Amino acid sequence: MNPLELDMLSRPRRNRKSAGVRALTRETTLSASDLVLPLFFHEDPEDVAIESMPGCTRWSLEGLVKEAGEAHALGVPAVVLFPKIEESLKTGDCEECYNPEGLVPRAIRALKAAHPDLVVMTDVALDPYNADGHDGLVVDGEIINDETVAVLCKQALSQAEAGADIVAPSDMMDGRVAAIRDALDANGFQKVSICSYTAKYASAFYGPFRGALDSAPKAGDKKTYQMDPANAREALRELELDELEGADMVMVKPGGPYLDIVKSVRENTRLPVAVYQVSGEYLMIQAASAGGWLDREKVIFESLLGIKRAGADIILTYFAKEVAGKLKGLGQ
Ligand code: PBG
Repeated sequence: MNPLELDMLSRPRRNRKSAGVRALTRETTLSASDLVLPLFFHEDPEDVAIESMPGCTRWSLEGLVKEAGEAHALGVPAVVLFPKIEESLKTGDCEECYNPEGLVPRAIRALKAAHPDLVVMTDVALDPYNADGHDGLVVDGEIINDETVAVLCKQALSQAEAGADIVAPSDMMDGRVAAIRDALDANGFQKVSICSYTAKYASAFYGPFRGALDSAPKAGDKKTYQMDPANAREALRELELDELEGADMVMVKPGGPYLDIVKSVRENTRLPVAVYQVSGEYLMIQAASAGGWLDREKVIFESLLGIKRAGADIILTYFAKEVAGKLKGLGQ
């Protein structure tokens, strides 16, 4: 016997000894069916590279339908829509957000016509339509809650009428989930789901997204409605309310820097938990790998696996299509 040999019953490395044993003992797996692809689009007939988010495109309606179809063919079940609205249509009362002939309803109809099985998820919030750039109506510098909720209901309804499968309020107004549920039900849309942005933090990681849509607030910040990054218990309070108000899915956003929140939301609900790997997270990976400082593909998979391991059932990520393509290539 080798005199240096240790007398150990448990050697955890035995479960890591080969690719086969590692596969058998793997606790978490990533699949294309976990993913939602966020898509940006505009009225113009051209597909344009987004300067603030290298690697992402602001699609024409035609480009949007094609891109969504490709992602769907690779196994991504859903897309979430983010429109860039023309400056001339942005107003203080955000009426354009419930125009039945607006950009979003037309996009939903085009997507559902071309890809009936694709799950279309929509963003419910006023920022792309608001001359002030805020998610709610602004009166005397204040973001007013209840009046905003009434407009959000009209917006969600116009999305449901166009064929949205899931409406996702990202505005963080109080009481909006119950109000949207009521409005949908009163109009015969019992089947339309609500994925609530339950714990959405006032995060600097959204910066590149606001550049993509030209939707940054004209004055002030979003701290009176989005959550303080310092708070964890408050996420559970929001969760409790969203459950009572009838949310079908709950979301945590951003993802990577908030995995403790993901875990505690997971442990405190029976609802599916969605997590948004946001634009700043995307960009950190893009930038560091463009500099040759990170192995891009490995870091993308590890970042998503980490989110899944923390408790996500659903991940919204700008890498969705690429990852689905890679998984398909691996036969997974
Ligand atoms: C707007 C909205 C934002 C994001 C999704 N919906 C920006 C914000 O709240 O300012 C951010 C997504 C990202 O950064 O990738 N309601």
